[in-house]
Amino acid sequence: MRTHKCGELNKDNLGEAVELCGWVHRRRDHGGVIFIDLRDRAGLVQVVFNPEAEDTFAIAESVRSEYVLRVEGIVRDRLEGTVNSNMATGEIEILVSYIEVLNEAETPPFPIESDIEVNEEMRLRYRYIDLRKTAMLEKMTMRRDVTRHLRNFLDNEEFFEMETPILTKATPEGARDYIVPSRTHPNAFFALPQSPQLYKQLLMMAGMDKYYQIVRCFRDEDLRADRQPEFTQLDIETSFMNEDEIMAVMEEMIRQLYKEVIDVRLDEQFPKITYQESMSRYGCDRPDLRIPLELVDIADEMKGVEFKVFSGPANDPNGRVVALRIPGGAKLTRKEIDIYTKYVSIYGAKGLAYIKVNDRDAGLEGLQSPIVKFAPEEVWEAVMSKAGAQTGDLIFFGADKAKIVNEAMGALRVKIGLDLDLLEGDWKPVWVVDFPMFDWDDKNQRWNAIHHPFTAPSCSEEELKADPGAALSRAYDLVLNGTEVGGGSIRINKTGMQQTVLEILGIGEQEAQDKFGFLLEALKYGCPPHGGMAYGLDRLVMLMTGSASIRDVIAFPKTQSAACPLVDAPAAVSDEQLRELSIKLRKVAAKEEA
Ligand code: AMO
Ligand code: AMP
Repeated sequence: MRTHKCGELNKDNLGEAVELCGWVHRRRDHGGVIFIDLRDRAGLVQVVFNPEAEDTFAIAESVRSEYVLRVEGIVRDRLEGTVNSNMATGEIEILVSYIEVLNEAETPPFPIESDIEVNEEMRLRYRYIDLRKTAMLEKMTMRRDVTRHLRNFLDNEEFFEMETPILTKATPEGARDYIVPSRTHPNAFFALPQSPQLYKQLLMMAGMDKYYQIVRCFRDEDLRADRQPEFTQLDIETSFMNEDEIMAVMEEMIRQLYKEVIDVRLDEQFPKITYQESMSRYGCDRPDLRIPLELVDIADEMKGVEFKVFSGPANDPNGRVVALRIPGGAKLTRKEIDIYTKYVSIYGAKGLAYIKVNDRDAGLEGLQSPIVKFAPEEVWEAVMSKAGAQTGDLIFFGADKAKIVNEAMGALRVKIGLDLDLLEGDWKPVWVVDFPMFDWDDKNQRWNAIHHPFTAPSCSEEELKADPGAALSRAYDLVLNGTEVGGGSIRINKTGMQQTVLEILGIGEQEAQDKFGFLLEALKYGCPPHGGMAYGLDRLVMLMTGSASIRDVIAFPKTQSAACPLVDAPAAVSDEQLRELSIKLRKVAAKEEA
């Protein structure tokens, strides 16, 4: 139907007879001449209709935005003064000799190109129109480029691409499962995989050596900008490599990806930071290292002060008291400080004490704050010197249970870094290592796996049993600009160790057999040492395209409430289908669909 794509024509094609297909992006009538910007995946080209050619002109007059056309014409230079340097095809135009309307279009629910904000529900409801936008096409293109590059890299490194089942059994990655009823096995359900974790381990046991898959994962969890109920992982597993070897290949892959797809040079070697150091300096395990601010512990200084808000947590083994120095922050207004105080309250902070350092050399006189009176000069001097305070700074303080201080002050650190434009560098990857194996779940009085239950500890089975809380894992996360883009670990490859970990997690023998019997059995038949990792592909592409949400880099994402407004899913099914599945619905007042 066509000889070229619209967006690929240029001066090299001058004088050629071309046939093009595309959508009417814009139509302008100019003193008897009609100009149409015709659009296809490759871009736009201007096509021109002269009134002398009456038939084609009449048709051109009748077309509207988003009509689908086929035109034939000759490529010619644009007139002097009408060259458009913003357009790849801006030096040429097509003088049309023949036009055919392949299809008409109703007025789109929102314009394809404009700065008007369209609400997201609407964009998703008409995603096929939303995807026509140049910005969306560019994101999809980058996503295509990213997966293409990753495949090439892994193929060259002799990783073996394999698929694993979607209809499977619960895989514990810490979220709720999506389940699928089985017709042939009444009362039994499949679970959609939260990741291919156990299958990829089985593939190592099968001798596949190095595996990868670009794979859909399903997790029923609270959604955020960087979380979707179904998302894509680049999932990788290798045998006979230790964590340093795995991390080395993995970061080389990301370095080459950045270089080739967006021409960015990442560090020659990504820094590593331990979980503990990351929590201590940044209040979180996914630090944004572009932000030069750090939390500084001042519990020692605050143990004896009369200000209970500080001395309480300072003397509590589960408490934490920190200072966060904001260079030049003394210029923050009362109103701005109030906004930050409100911001930290989202994370449970009960307040946000601060000191303005008006003159660092003037002792107490130079410090401005309602809390200065609560402690003697030597204490503040020690705090100021620990925090590295200088004249013109502002110091924020957080004091509470460590968890609250970490979350609140960690988030504040990022917010202020962005608000005050303090970012240093564009791309800061970092490996976070030495995670604890478990964290204690106070509510349910049991240990939870921080990574997943198949991650190997860096200690012996005996040491693990003796003090689960102190054990570190052989897990590693790759964090980029404050986003966890990937995580992995060396896995347990011995039955005894696997059983011990399951025991510590409170998974009894019977439950372990029911849930992971196949894995425990497979471990007995010659399981190689193995490990791997998985990247959140959507998150990687989100960062590389500078998008605010992973929804922007997924062709058909779900809404915040985990629904698809385009096909209207999830939806009710017929009684007939339910009967076949032996399912009887409980009388829950079905949520009225808007
Ligand atoms: P993990 O659970 O850390 O590890 O997931 C790996 C990466 O997947 C991305 N990710 C998500 N992206 C979008 N939406 C979500 N809901 C979502 N959840 C996770 C993150 C994360 O770093 N099987 C292990 C990997 C391994 O040990 O090899 C796993 O799934 O970027
Ligand atoms: P108050 O004595 O409650 O008026 O608090 C004095 C200052 O300490 C105010 O600026 C509060 O915002 C701040 N503040 C109160 N609780 C905390 C806390 N847990 N951590 C940090 N600052 C706090």
